[in-house]
Amino acid sequence: MTTAEPIELSLALDRAAGRRYPLGQQLVDELRRRVQAGSLGPGERLPPVRGLAARLNVTPETVAGAYKRLVEEGYLRGEIGRGTFVAAPPLHAEEDPLAPFEAAGALPPFASQQPTPGPPANRDLLRLASQPGLVSFAASVAALDLAPVEPLRRALSDVLAKDGAKALQVGAAQGYQPLRAAIAGILREQRGLDVDESTVCVTSGCQQGIDLAAKVFVAAGDVVLVEQPSFLGALEAFRARGARVIGVPIEGDGLRVEALPALIQRYRPKLLYCMPTYQNPTGRSLSVEKRRALLRIAASHDLPIVEDDSAGFIHLDGDGLAPPSLKAEDHAGYVLHLGTFSKLIAAGLRLGWLVADPPVFEKLVAAKYASDLSSDALVQRAVHRLVVDGALDVHLEHARAAYRERRNALVSALQQISSSGVTFDVPEGGFNLWLELPRDGPSSTELFLEAVRRGVAFVPGPFFFSAGRDGPASSAALRGLRLSYSAVAPPDIERGVHLLSDALRAISEAARPAEPLVY
Ligand SMILES: Cc1ncc(COP(=O)(O)O)c(C=O)c1O
Repeated sequence: MTTAEPIELSLALDRAAGRRYPLGQQLVDELRRRVQAGSLGPGERLPPVRGLAARLNVTPETVAGAYKRLVEEGYLRGEIGRGTFVAAPPLHAEEDPLAPFEAAGALPPFASQQPTPGPPANRDLLRLASQPGLVSFAASVAALDLAPVEPLRRALSDVLAKDGAKALQVGAAQGYQPLRAAIAGILREQRGLDVDESTVCVTSGCQQGIDLAAKVFVAAGDVVLVEQPSFLGALEAFRARGARVIGVPIEGDGLRVEALPALIQRYRPKLLYCMPTYQNPTGRSLSVEKRRALLRIAASHDLPIVEDDSAGFIHLDGDGLAPPSLKAEDHAGYVLHLGTFSKLIAAGLRLGWLVADPPVFEKLVAAKYASDLSSDALVQRAVHRLVVDGALDVHLEHARAAYRERRNALVSALQQISSSGVTFDVPEGGFNLWLELPRDGPSSTELFLEAVRRGVAFVPGPFFFSAGRDGPASSAALRGLRLSYSAVAPPDIERGVHLLSDALRAISEAARPAEPLVY
């Protein structure tokens, strides 16, 4: 029960703005900004509607409407008969994994032992990003406008015609044998992986592979190392197991591998999760030297590695392929390799794979059986047909060309706004570009809200960060943001970047003390 007295809110609205910036919207934006900045803290009680309305010289409906909107967005919560309170949890400074290791004392308390799948405010932000009508750079997905609908329709129809009801039976947990053989084939050809079907297990997407790894390797309180920034779905899967997720910074040539031995000694992690090829969200790849060093470290410290290779087929430059997968050189059997048809065909198929060496492989298959018995039988058979009749290759060639065009359109639009101070690397593959905002400008979360209002969305940096010095509230997190170009048509890409640039300019100007809109 909360008993706090209402706080004093010193706040003024810009009446001259008129319809251009309605008073209710100003109030919403200012309260949201204060919650995000932490000047309104969780549990603080807001002034009663009528009192604030009288002080601001607005109608009670204006204040009530603003409170209601912020309750819906997760920043405030109403308690019947008690008032309105700040709800958003602060971005807490958690433990610092790269702090001097000689620092004495016990490890910090296991911050995330309880399954907490991310603060509600984060989910609300993502919901905002999927509003219709926005140019959305928020979804790192295979483009639906490129999906091979007709080949898939034929494949499904063929399967039903030839296999009949057999195609509707639940199959083996490891997956449909011809599909496993076909996956082993494309991994040999395109990812340098010398595997046969006996060590391939079909999964219901790469996310299930991550989840199975978490089930097999991680118990509550265990430490998992991840790249910093990393894929949100993986962070959530590990947190849901009660793991302490510790981020290791990622540089131009990938994970800071040299930091690992000391981290391993100190934290005894149960596994390292990484995306060596076209990492999500940065688009960076681990260099060949670092791949070798990483495998040596895994073997000498007995550290399992989960390699998420979901972007490994999406190389956009040159005639060659992407760098071979990490598992291709894993002769000691420390790497669990994960892949997915989500990026190759469409995410709604929910079809992926894992490759691992015994005895871990058997444990993963048992965990898969316990999770969902087996992946969708009909989809497995249809996708098998797409792979063996060459339709997947044809589709991929076409899709890569389209993704290349979209990546290029994004890069050239961003180059045109380079005077705004944004910086980025050109990704050589995958679906994402990591943008850094100027040091003296707004944070990516502040920019997000202004950008959405203007009709463009992206995912702000803090979503990809876990605990530590470089955690969600760090300047690296707040300055970064992910722009996913795969599912946006080139004309929209250009328009979206201009909207983004307008939002950046507007928010930077509004922040200048000489002409505050609201203070
Ligand atoms: C890096 C990464 N891993 C895993 C996934 C989940 O993939 P799937 O749809 O195969 O579960 C995604 C999806 O966006 C991703 O970007």
